[in-house]
Amino acid sequence: MSQLPNVIQLNSEQTSLIIDCEGKTPSVLYWGKSLSAASSVSMLRSLATRQEVKCAVVVEAPISLSPLSGEGFTGAPGIEISNDNSAWSLGGALISIKQQNAQSVEFVCVDNVRQIEITHKLHLDKQTNVLTASTAITNRTTAPLNVTWCAAPTIPLADNINKILSFEGRWSNEFLLNKVDLFLGSFLRENRKGKTSHDNFPGVVLYDEKTDEHNGDCYGFHLGWSGNHRTRVEHLPEGRNYVQLGELLMPGELILQANESYQSPNLYASFSDKGISGLSQNYHHFVRQNLIRPEVKNKPRPVHFNTWEGLYFDHDIETLKNLAKQVSELGIERFVLDDGWFKGRRGDAAGLGDWYVDKDIYPEGLGPLIEYVNSLGLEFGLWFEPEMVNPDSDLFRNHPDWVLATEGNEQLEFRNQLVLDLTNKEVTDYLFKVIDDILSEHPQIKYIKWDNNRDYNHPGNHLGKPAIHLQTLAFYQLIDNLKTKHPQVEIESCASGGGRIDYGVLSRTDRVWTSDSNDALDRLSIQRGCSIFFPSEIMGAHVGPRDCHITGRHISIEMRAAVAFFGHMGIEMDPRELTSEEKQALSEIISLHKKHRCLIHSGNLVRLNENPFSVDFGIVSEDRNHALFAYNSVNEVNRTNPGKYRFVGLAIDKVYQLNLIWPTDLKEYSPSVLRQIEGQVFTGEVLQQFGMQLPALFPQTSLIFELKAV
Ligand code: DGJ
Repeated sequence: MSQLPNVIQLNSEQTSLIIDCEGKTPSVLYWGKSLSAASSVSMLRSLATRQEVKCAVVVEAPISLSPLSGEGFTGAPGIEISNDNSAWSLGGALISIKQQNAQSVEFVCVDNVRQIEITHKLHLDKQTNVLTASTAITNRTTAPLNVTWCAAPTIPLADNINKILSFEGRWSNEFLLNKVDLFLGSFLRENRKGKTSHDNFPGVVLYDEKTDEHNGDCYGFHLGWSGNHRTRVEHLPEGRNYVQLGELLMPGELILQANESYQSPNLYASFSDKGISGLSQNYHHFVRQNLIRPEVKNKPRPVHFNTWEGLYFDHDIETLKNLAKQVSELGIERFVLDDGWFKGRRGDAAGLGDWYVDKDIYPEGLGPLIEYVNSLGLEFGLWFEPEMVNPDSDLFRNHPDWVLATEGNEQLEFRNQLVLDLTNKEVTDYLFKVIDDILSEHPQIKYIKWDNNRDYNHPGNHLGKPAIHLQTLAFYQLIDNLKTKHPQVEIESCASGGGRIDYGVLSRTDRVWTSDSNDALDRLSIQRGCSIFFPSEIMGAHVGPRDCHITGRHISIEMRAAVAFFGHMGIEMDPRELTSEEKQALSEIISLHKKHRCLIHSGNLVRLNENPFSVDFGIVSEDRNHALFAYNSVNEVNRTNPGKYRFVGLAIDKVYQLNLIWPTDLKEYSPSVLRQIEGQVFTGEVLQQFGMQLPALFPQTSLIFELKAV
């Protein structure tokens, strides 16, 4: 023990993370803005010294990377285990520290009495300031060890942090922001739906009440995991706070035999003193550098046409060709054939599981359609929902025991489908084969939309065990195997819209379907919430039908287009419904998107602070020479004129030419103030510190401005 360092420091460009190793087990002493060399660890330790108080322990148990019951910690332990002996009261002592460089460290602690080993791995990404951290537990006994909780490293919070921003939502309204004050006790969010879920995204932002989008301290935490999960933020009675995220395991779900290990999913944590947009920029850079494949990053994201809201199950080869022709004329670059192409799939009641082309609809297979689409210059993509089966399918008739179920319990119905048991190798072998057959027969398929449309209400596998842990790993493995064989295929993660969006799935897919709602108003808040952890290029964003199919809202083509413009853009409607004006508008916005997608998909996102009337944000190039800003008026203003638009993220000493680039034709009561300032130049300073007077517009109007340094 004496030869181990008593402190470890990891540094990134803007943050320092100091781990105290003086106690029995390691714990975070400092994490925040970079500290200079003049600030010593002994200073921190002295300043952190706490006094004994009445009716309390003399020295508080540490909030270590895995706070333990054996250490007397009375908050939520980082690890909960049991066996026939005393594993439940796990303690431990640090026995090894491996620090590879200024970015990475691995700690090993052992409880010699209980023969259990805990390993923490931490990597602080130098450029992006994102910490990737995991906890592993190894059973060194000869008896089975039951693991009910093994959180990723627990992180104590700085004392100025007193607000929690988390995410709620539902189908077609994901990523809604929920803000609460830190309170005595635990803020807890648990997801037991078997996949990431619409309603409990595994992420949280903790911040100082003075923090806004551009200033102030904030910390982000996200668990990269697509199964069940738990997020806890606890304010302890003695005034200390911590955050703990991990995989939620059901009783008996994880049993480690001798020398077996379990590693928690990765926690992705980051600090910014530049407000919540600054925090998002850390995460966006991290995703761009570490999760998006270079082949995908280096290729402009093709503009999609997706058949779902245009045709639903009404597939017909001539109609599809006609649609492909029409959308190619609008500038579409990728045609994605959604649900309805496989055997017996004429509605959502049958066919799932039978991944063979339906010969009634496609007598010669998919070949002729793919060739036609390609001949128009469009890539071809195909929808699958591999993890599900309809009882009305050949697959289910032949293998009724291939589904997740719990003995003696009736299944809750959900979109006429059941979940396949991916912990059964026969099932994943079948799924690999049928998908591989289609991809091998049609190497022109460059894209898969991978859907998943029900919750896992009965998550028991063929062995009668709770299965979400293994099911999630098997899902990852299936994707990995398919990608190894078909590396040219890009994959979109969809789960009835945004039900499976997290860094676990994103590290093996290329795009997410952000939401089933194509309603531009809903999308503004959904995309804003999603943008806290995810960059624009991975967010599928489509121009939907004139009357939104989910909300019934009628929204102008200009606004629908402006909202989709800032994601991975596409259209999803029946192009036969388009008037010539709408076609014109769509062609224009698609070509505008192509012109600017490099900036949209690589720039720094700056969200303007929330206000009740509009949703506003910008994307600024790294060198601050080029920017796009959006003003989306959603509610009528309560004064005769709206306020000013204060740009952010610009260089104050640069001079920018300002142009309104969308819409091309703005309907207003009097000559627009915008037309008067168009093409003029302004310093970044006045654009930010003085702002631009906005015109009075109808609510539900979107404007896009371009700023170019001159
Ligand atoms: C749900 C998805 O989110 C939709 O986009 C569509 O693919 C349907 N499933 C198809 O069943």
